[in-house]
Amino acid sequence: AVLGVLASGRGSNLQSIIDAIDIGRIKAEIAVVISDKPEANALKRVAELGIPAVCVDRKLYDTKEEFEKALVEELEKHRVDLVILAGFMRILSPYFVNAFKNKIMNIHPSLLPAFPGAHAHRSVLEYGAKVSGCTIHFVDEGMDSGPIILQESVPVLDDDTEETLAARVLKVEHVLYPKAIALYLEDKLEINGRRVMIKE
Ligand code: GRF
Repeated sequence: AVLGVLASGRGSNLQSIIDAIDIGRIKAEIAVVISDKPEANALKRVAELGIPAVCVDRKLYDTKEEFEKALVEELEKHRVDLVILAGFMRILSPYFVNAFKNKIMNIHPSLLPAFPGAHAHRSVLEYGAKVSGCTIHFVDEGMDSGPIILQESVPVLDDDTEETLAARVLKVEHVLYPKAIALYLEDKLEINGRRVMIKE
């Protein structure tokens, strides 16, 4: 299978996917990594590994539609079967979502539907929640709203800061995202309305 990864920043989830491919846990190749920001560390990470790294700079497009057309073109050029959003900080329009219907996954660092959007950890702490975690889901037109594939919880501790909570969640993210991708590629996910069943 052929993966295309969209990342805006650090790229640690991207790295966990690269590692899972290396040890054969994910049977796929990453055909292209695309960032909407030229300075994204994710691009540097893969350029060194020989994986095509492309910047589709949002600033160079007048409209979201033109920007997304460029993204779709790039993904189609590389014959991508599954689009992985790994810290991609933009909401995709119905045009993009329909171009890869049920073939886009996202990771979000909270237990959805609680605390969607940016700054999830800050919101969790401000609200006073006692558990948080991460969610892998298919992407629909909403923000962090598509059918949930996998979730795992972590405790929120009394002395947590955004940073310590983020670090605890991130450890789980790095295990869960490769797991969800592997399940998809092994054809073990069955979408039934909002529910994603895991076939054995
Ligand atoms: C992760 O916490 C992910 O859940 C969120 O953005 C962060 C990206 O981190 N969507 P990285 O770029 O994968 O290191």
